[in-house]
Amino acid sequence: MKKIITLLFTAIAIMSCNKTPQTTETTGTLRDKPWQEIAPSQIELNPLQMIDKDWLEVSAGKEGKMNLMTISWGSIGELWGKPVFTVYVSTSRYTHQFMEENEYFTVTHFPASMKEKLAYLGRVSGRDEDKVAGAGLTVEFTELGNPIYAEADLAIECKKIYAQQFNADLLPAEQREWYEKTGIGIHYMYIGEILHVWKK
Ligand SMILES: Cc1cc2nc3c(=O)[nH]c(=O)nc-3n(C[C@H](O)[C@H](O)[C@H](O)COP(=O)(O)O)c2cc1C
Repeated sequence: MKKIITLLFTAIAIMSCNKTPQTTETTGTLRDKPWQEIAPSQIELNPLQMIDKDWLEVSAGKEGKMNLMTISWGSIGELWGKPVFTVYVSTSRYTHQFMEENEYFTVTHFPASMKEKLAYLGRVSGRDEDKVAGAGLTVEFTELGNPIYAEADLAIECKKIYAQQFNADLLPAEQREWYEKTGIGIHYMYIGEILHVWKK
């Protein structure tokens, strides 16, 4: 009898160890989701098409405290032997604060059918509205806890390695006048080392 009870407990212990851990919709790894990790060199989209024509979202923050905004200025390349993505964020943007406070940022590309939503995300500020809800986006968090979106078709996760505001004295006259005329805060350049790239 003692033997049977011992066997029963052992079986229960083994079964509970094999149980799949519970994950919520917005946490956990990307393994179960329809994302495939690729190398930065395998990004097929033309950079100018992707950034300037299609537009992207830059996001920073963690679950419960994050923001995103549309960008059409940016660059992808290589620096200090690392693949990098650089974004340019004005101090006028709510997102700027998130870029300053967080070690990571993500850049996401969406199918053309989402263009109207990207226009909304580039018109409205997260200071005034819940933009994720407003655009009907489903946030997923990477293993590092950074936000990407189920509706995106490409997600690039970056670690900030350099950040600096453009020096007004060194700006070309045309750009200096543009900042003065519009009152838009001079942009910060955030260079991010590309840590992960996922595509659908
Ligand atoms: C197509 C498009 C491209 C934009 N590109 C940039 C950009 O590269 N850098 C930037 O600082 N703002 C850019 N903006 C403006 C911001 O997306 C916009 O001000 C946004 O509302 C800021 O949101 P936030 O206050 O929640 O950060 C762009 C807007 C649009 C519509």
